[in-house]
Amino acid sequence: MKRVIILLGSVLLSPVAESQTTPFAEPRSVQTPDWSLLSLANIMQLIQSRHIKLWYAGRAQDWDLINFESDHISDDLTSAAMLYKNIPLEFVSNANRALARLKKAAKERNIQGLQAAYTDLTTSCNSCHAAGGVAFIRIQPPTHMPFTNQKF
Ligand code: HEC
Repeated sequence: MKRVIILLGSVLLSPVAESQTTPFAEPRSVQTPDWSLLSLANIMQLIQSRHIKLWYAGRAQDWDLINFESDHISDDLTSAAMLYKNIPLEFVSNANRALARLKKAAKERNIQGLQAAYTDLTTSCNSCHAAGGVAFIRIQPPTHMPFTNQKF
């Protein structure tokens, strides 16, 4: 019984994951993952995957998926800015503005707006890379879909 109460307590006290979009994605307890998992480059790898999926979600006019991926990129960038103290917030804001415009275009079913916002998002990736001394990490719209196990 005591164990159940402790478990329940930790569930109730656990913070809601920033990127939680479904009830299933709520964390069970307060656990700090290995710091190396949260390296800036690893967070960026996740963002890179989502940047690809966002492109194909746009092509498929899958409005829900566009919203989902936009929210997750935004949350991941916000986490990066919170974890890494030297990240200039204006670059995160630029990306977040482009993501908000993507969501707005999706809501309005505005394909041209979607394309323009995606271009601005990609520019915001590269602007921060240039400012951060990693201009050699050049992001572009994907040329093929690596995630063949997901339907778009
Ligand atoms: C606020 C700044 C900032 C923004 C915005 C940003 N990045 Fe990055 N990104 C970085 C920094 C800094 C690094 C290098 C990290 C390091 O030195 O380990 C990086 C690294 C990367 C890497 C290399 C990861 C690896 O291990 O190979 C990829 C890919 C990447 N970013 C993709 C993106 C994409 C896609 C976007 C836009 C959707 C984006 N980034 C937006 C700052 C940013």
